[in-house]
Amino acid sequence: MSADHARPRRRLFAEGTTIEDLKTYMAPFAATLGYKLNTESEFVDEVLASELEILADTGDVYCPCRVRTGDPKEDAMIVCPCIPFHMVQFAAIRKCWCGLFIRYDVEDGGELLGVIDEPELGAQVEVPVCRVNDLAPGQTKHVKAGKTDYALARVGDEFYAISNVCVHAFGPLADGVLEGHELACPWHGWRYDVRDGTTNHPDADVAAYPVTVRHGYLWLTCAL
Ligand code: SF4
Ligand code: FES
Repeated sequence: MSADHARPRRRLFAEGTTIEDLKTYMAPFAATLGYKLNTESEFVDEVLASELEILADTGDVYCPCRVRTGDPKEDAMIVCPCIPFHMVQFAAIRKCWCGLFIRYDVEDGGELLGVIDEPELGAQVEVPVCRVNDLAPGQTKHVKAGKTDYALARVGDEFYAISNVCVHAFGPLADGVLEGHELACPWHGWRYDVRDGTTNHPDADVAAYPVTVRHGYLWLTCAL
């Protein structure tokens, strides 16, 4: 028996799992990330049928369009739906690699099938990073989108995001103290305005990013 076969299986993905079971599991999960199953239902069924074959073979629903390494830790990134790991890139191309999932606002998923354009570097994308209820007034929170770390802050019912990295010595700003709109770095106390990332130290501002509230989530606009 291979190491893959020895891995515990999620209950839902036991023998006898059907395409409908996969849809029932995946659709709500993907919805919280701003995605839905492609509107091309035949294509969806084909991809999920492939995933069921892979499930029978390996014990998990790995992506049919990605190569497995055999290392469960590394391959965990391509267990479907893999959206959280590729959130920024997928937001830019408005679908997952193969198009099983499309962004919530794409009306005709068929138009994106077969489109393999690499997203343009620097393109602006919006990604959901946190539930509104997970950030209380006066609190901050560290989130990661793509390769970048952000500090979210809530002042009353206004939400802000700045880089999580202090310019002084790379302190984690989300661990700092928020007073009004000022966030003090936890390491040496430099203070940043969460509305625009400015600080009173010369040439030491951090980037600020727009935050939008949608469907109970905070969506961050960031660059690839
Ligand atoms: S690229 Fe699409 S099909 Fe492949 S694992 Fe990710 S979500 Fe699933
Ligand atoms: S690292 Fe932030 S003030 Fe020093």
